[in-house]
Amino acid sequence: MSAYRYPMPNPSEITSKENFLNRRSFMAGATGALAAPIFFSSAAQAATSLTTIPSKYSTKDEPNPLADITSYNNFYEFGTGKGDPAKNAGSLTTTPWTIETSGLINKPGTIDMEALMRKYPLEERIYRLRCVEAWSMVIPWVGIPLASVLKDLDVQGSAKYVAFETLKRPEEMPGQASVFGSLPWPYVEGLRLDEAMHPLTILAVGLYGEVLPNQNGAPVRLIVPWKYGFKSIKSIVSIKLTENEPPTTWNKAAANEYGFYSNVNPEVSHPRWSQASERVIGAGIFAKKRPTEPFNGYAEEVASLYEGMDLRKFF
Ligand code: MTE
Repeated sequence: MSAYRYPMPNPSEITSKENFLNRRSFMAGATGALAAPIFFSSAAQAATSLTTIPSKYSTKDEPNPLADITSYNNFYEFGTGKGDPAKNAGSLTTTPWTIETSGLINKPGTIDMEALMRKYPLEERIYRLRCVEAWSMVIPWVGIPLASVLKDLDVQGSAKYVAFETLKRPEEMPGQASVFGSLPWPYVEGLRLDEAMHPLTILAVGLYGEVLPNQNGAPVRLIVPWKYGFKSIKSIVSIKLTENEPPTTWNKAAANEYGFYSNVNPEVSHPRWSQASERVIGAGIFAKKRPTEPFNGYAEEVASLYEGMDLRKFF
């Protein structure tokens, strides 16, 4: 029996653009949504196809249509409403793009996005994104294991955490320029080094076989599928290896509501609502809620990372 819950993909299986377009129009038809390419238009970005290989880590759940994934977003740099990122993120310039790498590594410097995408094979990873607001959707990401990138930075023995930072560019990010200041900028996040090195953790550079739409965190964002969506920081410009636990934006904004770990846990309620179930985006308002799974369904893969920890205290 395979050690994994998912069948091993055939490595020779390459996702062609045709396959994606067929799948997309199938799903668009199934939900009555419009044809897909229109959803990229608000981000003023030509859809660019990526060649991907499938991953053994993908869920078998059917992905949400592209329309859901690109129109119902959290990206406070572009406004606090779910439709704001699709409306406003077209202003973001994503090329050229570099990520500064620093801290406890032997090879500090800058990673050029185009070079990054040429250097590593791009995997399709179909993951459920479980938002802390108790909704979820299934997204066919295209990404690179974060572990591959970290290994190439030659991490020093004293490093224990990875700190990430989003771009701060108020001239292109209206939410950062707002006088009402929704969050402290730049948006920052962090992982323990073993979480960052886990094979489920990826840097996503695309979805549905094409480069990331701006509203989903172009050109590169983190995806940690066993944690609430807010850990998956968008539009990353800095990766720093540290010895101490780095600050995280939502923890800074409301420490009693959002902890550093933020593992999906149906048994630990948010102070203002239950986390026992989730509304599936696109399922309709009368649809039954989906019971939330511990670690978002990845307990077998990741529960051992937290052995001996009281996950009610370290939420
Ligand atoms: N990253 C940045 N920089 N700014 C944000 O506001 N929102 C987070 C996360 N990453 C956010 C962010 C939250 S709350 C969620 S649920 C996910 O992005 C949503 O990702 P999606 O819009 O691609 O579904």
